[in-house]
Amino acid sequence: MKHSKDLAVIILAAGRGTRMRSDKPKVMHELAGLPMVNWLLKTVEGLDPARAVVVVGPDMSELEAAVTPHEVVVQEVRDGTGGAARIAAEALGDFDGDVLILLGDAPLVRAETLRELVAARQGDGVGLSILGCRVDNPFGYGRVVSRDGLVERIVEEKDATEEERAIDLINTGAFCVDGMALRGWLAQVGNDNAQGEFYITDLPAIAAAKGVKTAVAVCRDEDEVRGVNTLGDLAVLEGGVRRRLCEQAMAEGVRIIDPATTYLHHDTVLAAGVVVEPSVVFGDGVSVAEGAQIKAFSYIEDAEIGVGAVIGPFARLRGGVVMEEASKVGTFVEVKKSVMGAGSKVPHLSYVGDCVMGAGVNFGAGAITANYDGFEKHQTRIDDGAFVGTNVNLIAPVHVGEGAFVAAGSTVSEDVPADALALERSGRKILSGWASKFRARKSKG
Ligand code: UD1
Ligand code: CA
Repeated sequence: MKHSKDLAVIILAAGRGTRMRSDKPKVMHELAGLPMVNWLLKTVEGLDPARAVVVVGPDMSELEAAVTPHEVVVQEVRDGTGGAARIAAEALGDFDGDVLILLGDAPLVRAETLRELVAARQGDGVGLSILGCRVDNPFGYGRVVSRDGLVERIVEEKDATEEERAIDLINTGAFCVDGMALRGWLAQVGNDNAQGEFYITDLPAIAAAKGVKTAVAVCRDEDEVRGVNTLGDLAVLEGGVRRRLCEQAMAEGVRIIDPATTYLHHDTVLAAGVVVEPSVVFGDGVSVAEGAQIKAFSYIEDAEIGVGAVIGPFARLRGGVVMEEASKVGTFVEVKKSVMGAGSKVPHLSYVGDCVMGAGVNFGAGAITANYDGFEKHQTRIDDGAFVGTNVNLIAPVHVGEGAFVAAGSTVSEDVPADALALERSGRKILSGWASKFRARKSKG
């Protein structure tokens, strides 16, 4: 491949995606939390092109913002992939290197595959290359029609004869075109077809008429080139992304027991030696350090998890949680916007919110921080080595001092000094024989 400064990339993303039945531009739908168009741009950035131009539709400011700092051109009238490519090619001006044209709704193509596509374009007498794929069910795709080993043209599903529909070599939509010829060829694309649109897929026939060859790079993995037209397709790609993220983590030394039920976010950072049990969901902004264990059915967002920490089963972390070394969040525990010092434990059935906990704290079963007064959130501070008994309510703002004990069942609304015992329960009352008298009274009537 030539130096990448001889490469420009065009991404077609102006379609509204009406079949998605959503107000969002199609390419803004997310896969593992990252919009489709940004998956594609990440791959494109890996090719280090001289320029990348994204074609968007009118009123798509959210999409324009998502693709910065790359160039954006607006296709005012949606008149087909050929029309979209023409506008982008104008923006490229007299760029004379290779131009890679990609569809924003087929975002999972790998960089290696695109390099093969560019290499195919650089063959002798070849003016453009297309990325093809052999598929079991070619329905809906454009078909690559060849004669004597040469590409003659691409025919769209709606324009194809029965014989052409039987062809299993499909057009994935990715093209690489000689930048010197691109604008001239696009000017010749017409819209005399079943959809009345300008098809970029007319380029091979236009080139052939000039005696210029079209090469086909055949992608062997259909998952890479699958496009999204419906929410059903989006779910299929989500599965592909999930597998890809898990494979990458496992290759880096993360033990994922069941990749089929492990949901990594696009930005999840897992260190080597981390163990993830089945049915765990990671949201935005999670990093997990060496030796930590995430047990089954946990849901974790916005959290920094320290070395050797243990989470779950059935734990929920969110809103900015820091768990220091060897701390533990156990079964049916929710922790929100809190810091847990080294070795601190919240083993069962608790809510910890807006809390700064020191090291070596034990937070008993069923204990909670009452952090919200109906209007504002308040802080709880628990210092090193404190022991919070079972079923305690800590009414924030409140401070439990170092090494203090809070007796089980206490509702604490005032600070507890270091090393003290706080015991706040209603007075004991025993009525001897009350139960049998009560039963007797009830059974009389
Ligand atoms: C297109 C190809 C088809 C190929 C398939 C692969 C054409 C004519 N057909 O069909 O051969 O098998 O992709 O998935 O190219 N877009 C614009 N402006 C437009 C129209 C489309 O930017 O005016 C963008 C869309 O946002 C989308 C992409 O181009 O990201 C593809 O458009 P779409 O209408 O989905 O094409 P397909 O019918 O899937
Ligand atoms: Ca499509």
